[in-house]
Amino acid sequence: MIHVAVIGYGYWGPNLVRNLQEADGARVAMVCDQSEERLARARRRHPAVEMTTSFDAVLANPAVHAVAIATPVRTHYELARRALEAGKHVLVEKPLTQRVEEAEELCALAEKKGLVLMVDHIFVYSPPVQKMKEIVDSGRLGKLFFIDSVRINLGLFQHDVNVVWDLAPHDLSIVDHLVGRLPRGLSAFGATHANHDIEDVAYLNLDYGDGLIANFHVNWLSPVKVRSMILGGSEQSLIYNDLEVSEKVKVYNRGISIARTQEERRQILISYRSGDVWAPNVANTEALAGMAAHFVECVAQGKRPLTDGQAGLRIVRILDAAQRSIKTQGGRVML
Ligand SMILES: NC(=O)c1ccc[n+]([C@@H]2O[C@H](COP(=O)([O-])OP(=O)(O)OC[C@H]3O[C@@H](n4cnc5c(N)ncnc54)[C@H](O)[C@@H]3O)[C@@H](O)[C@H]2O)c1
Repeated sequence: MIHVAVIGYGYWGPNLVRNLQEADGARVAMVCDQSEERLARARRRHPAVEMTTSFDAVLANPAVHAVAIATPVRTHYELARRALEAGKHVLVEKPLTQRVEEAEELCALAEKKGLVLMVDHIFVYSPPVQKMKEIVDSGRLGKLFFIDSVRINLGLFQHDVNVVWDLAPHDLSIVDHLVGRLPRGLSAFGATHANHDIEDVAYLNLDYGDGLIANFHVNWLSPVKVRSMILGGSEQSLIYNDLEVSEKVKVYNRGISIARTQEERRQILISYRSGDVWAPNVANTEALAGMAAHFVECVAQGKRPLTDGQAGLRIVRILDAAQRSIKTQGGRVML
């Protein structure tokens, strides 16, 4: 049985506690939060779990094998580093850290200590994204030409990170999982409205090389909620709409047929194809439950997680580059 301590019982922590508690082979042994009020809430819901305001007490408890960190982003590095140094396996909420060097250091430390370091890139564990991965890997879409991603709504304003660091990890980690490589470079634009230090609207344009460009729109000010991603391929295209109750993923057998012979190319002959739309069956399971089960399995069996520290580091690299690009409103940053 893997004993886990959950650090941070604010908005997201309760979801981690519930899902880790329900994961086979695990139990939540401790919940730690600096706030007595939050702990009182946790105690009411989980009377059998030990509550503490002291992170030192968690680290000193030899019965705790792993910690799951759901505190504000600025605290991730320090808490994760101390937990790894104390010999605990670590699950960190997204994004892994606020700085590239911090993420690199955590990866090296986990490697040196032989401990699991995993980041909660939750969408990688969601059934629609798992189906998208299956479709992309099958080659059915052909060569990927473009990705267009929109994640906008009247958002919960964060105090320590902007909309890019808050929302883009979701979409960037989906694309990282699907494409399997870092972009070559990016340009990003952002604007502040509610708070002059924190961008609440941003556009990121990433160049993945080999003809693939991707655009990400993240926004806390939109009156309507949109959670969509289009993958345009040479053969077929896919639309993912996370707000659909069913048929979240649809594959369109539509596109262009590009001229293949010299003569056709000279005449710029492009024809259009219009075919069927297909909605594959997608399981209806909770992404967070899958993520929690995967963490427990990796700890129990010494396996490398799908979203390991390196995956977290790749996303932090992109976020850091986007932040630098926003400073110069779209200045190109190479990765
Ligand atoms: N995977 C997802 O879909 C998802 C969704 C929401 C939030 N998150 C992530 O979860 C993390 C927490 O976000 P939130 O919205 O729950 O924040 P929050 O501010 O609501 O909660 C954070 C909690 O951590 C506690 N805390 C702060 N520093 C601490 C410390 N040093 N030791 C112990 N407790 C401490 C605070 O008292 C608070 O209760 C962030 O990294 C965020 O990006 C992930």
